[in-house]
Amino acid sequence: MNKKIAVLPGDGIGPEVIREAIKVCNAIGDKFKHDFLFKEGVVGAASIFKNGDPYPDETHNLCLNSDSVLFGAIGLPEFDNNPSAKVRPEQGLLKMRKKLGLFANIRPTFTFKSLVDNSPLKKNRIDGTDLIFVRELTGGIYFGKRGRKNKGDSAFDTCEYDRNEIIRLARKGFEIASKRKKKLCCVDKANVLETSRLWRETIQSMEKDYPSIEVSYELVDAVAMRLIQSPKNYDVLITENLFGDILTDEASVISGSMGLMPSASVGELNSLYEPIHGSFPEATGKNIANPLATILSAAMMFEMSFNLKFESDLIKNSVEKSIEEGFVTQDLSNGNLYYSTSEVGDKICDYIKSS
Ligand code: IPM
Ligand code: MG
Repeated sequence: MNKKIAVLPGDGIGPEVIREAIKVCNAIGDKFKHDFLFKEGVVGAASIFKNGDPYPDETHNLCLNSDSVLFGAIGLPEFDNNPSAKVRPEQGLLKMRKKLGLFANIRPTFTFKSLVDNSPLKKNRIDGTDLIFVRELTGGIYFGKRGRKNKGDSAFDTCEYDRNEIIRLARKGFEIASKRKKKLCCVDKANVLETSRLWRETIQSMEKDYPSIEVSYELVDAVAMRLIQSPKNYDVLITENLFGDILTDEASVISGSMGLMPSASVGELNSLYEPIHGSFPEATGKNIANPLATILSAAMMFEMSFNLKFESDLIKNSVEKSIEEGFVTQDLSNGNLYYSTSEVGDKICDYIKSS
């Protein structure tokens, strides 16, 4: 198989974790005789410094002309600490999601047997958790009208959704649930928000098309609590953009580290794969960042974009093996011996080669 993969390393630890994911893709390519052509594009702060635009047309065209996109992370503290910055790295991420039509962000949450003690949550509550968030990614308050009034003393952000945006996202949720435990939880704030009432009404009207799926409707504040109280009760959760952003960070506590959580963003054009963690600027260039979330994102790419389930499973099993045998970065080491970003990547490639 020949595939063209756009690679957008971005900022902070982005380039380091992406390097390991590419190594792993190449190990798979060598073993199974696939040819992957990686083409790199600029995005985020790295791109602002280069040409003033966090997602330039050149990068967009590269994504459009590739079979899929592998993305690292964006963001730098010098922008976070400057609320009046005119251009921000995050705008690049939002522009990219919008222009590529990536309306659904799929974020699985799972546990690794050997890591259940890494979570601050009780083992018996989290062991065996296997749930998936389907987060709306190109609408809501992230993309609504915003601004200042009263000479800058008031600010507003608006949240708007239309029925079609909800339908296409909900379809993804129903489809994913139908291949799993057939449980769909719709997360909203319908007791307060009009947009949430439209979400609920729309999804209720779709239930008849998916008779095998058991649908529940839960308020986001209650889900925030139940998610860490009894995560095993959930299968697929669908939600709007901001709620999904918050709940998926919360859910990463279940797996024990943000450094483990992959994601796929899918929609109208080709798909994008990225770790859910940020750019971790403090660790930049130190070769200490955990590359597993990005490597697992590449595994999602093999399964979802290239239909290479066997290769994808091999990556996942190799990651699991490296965790079990203690070849992990500092964040997962529990005070034991730990390894560098590139050593962990090498180890996973060795497992792939020798299996
Ligand atoms: C995420 C991130 C982004 C988001 C930021 C960096 C804009 O937190 O992908 O979850 O809020 O969507
Ligand atoms: Mg987030």
